[in-house]
Order: sequence, then structure tokens, then C-alpha cells
Amino acid sequence: MLHSIFGFSLLSQLGIGFICVIGAIKAYLLWVKGVCTSRNKLTGKTVIITGANAGIGKETAIDLASRGARIIMACRDLKKAAAAKGQ
Ligand SMILES: NC(=O)c1ccc[n+]([C@@H]2O[C@H](COP(=O)([O-])OP(=O)(O)OC[C@H]3O[C@@H](n4cnc5c(N)ncnc54)[C@H](OP(=O)(O)O)[C@@H]3O)[C@@H](O)[C@H]2O)c1
Repeated sequence: MLHSIFGFSLLSQLGIGFICVIGAIKAYLLWVKGVCTSRNKLTGKTVIITGANAGIGKETAIDLASRGARIIMACRDLKKAAAAKGQ
């Protein structure tokens, strides 16, 4: 009986169920984590980011740079800053 629900095989039903669960988890995380999804171009803007070699500062620098901003990385450790700049 289970094999013929909506005309899908059991394997297809499991696959669709899996995709739905993953999609729901991703939507939930996007909602609770407050991820910035802006694709606005930042060409011509200059941003100074403290602690830009790690964590939130680094992720922010990567995102803003990918959208065209000029980034000034304000870091206390120049070796770490240079390593992060290359990523
Ligand atoms: N991660 C989260 O989910 C979260 C959530 C809410 C709030 N926060 C807050 O957001 C801030 C950054 O979090 P994070 O997870 O990105 O931390 P992180 O990965 O530890 O990065 C911290 C950055 O700040 C720099 N830094 C630390 N102490 C410093 C000091 N005394 N002077 C100058 N620079 C210093 C570090 O430089 P070095 O690499 O040289 O140490 C590094 O670049 C923290 O205040 C944290 O409490 C984080």
C-alpha cells in the first residue's frame, strides 16, 4: 500500500521526504540566524572592519568585498590579517 501512494515508489517518497526535511531545516536556520541575504552592490563604498581576520568580522569582510566594497581590515595581528586577506 505504502509503495503506491501518489504513484511514487517507496524510495522516491523517502527522497522527497528527506529533501523536505532538509529544506525546512535550512529555512528555519535562515530565519533564526538572521543571515544577511542582500545582493546590493557596494561599489564605491569603503568599509572599515575591526577584527576582520576571524569570525564575524572575516565573514562580513568576505561578503561586503564580494559585493564590490573596498575593505579596510583593522587587525592587531598582521600575519593573521594577511592570511585572511588571501581567502
Ligand atoms: N559568534 C557569534 O555567534 C556571536 C554572537 C553574538 C555576539 N558575538 C560577539 O561578536 C564579537 C566577534 O565574535 P566572533 O565570533 O567573530 O569572535 P572571534 O572569531 O574570536 O573574532 C574576534 C576578532 O576580534 C579580534 N580581537 C579580539 N580581541 C581583541 C582585542 N583585544 N583587540 C583587538 N582585536 C581583538 C580578534 O583578533 P585576533 O585574531 O588577533 O585574536 C578577531 O579578529 C565578539 O565580541 C562576540 O562576543 C559573537
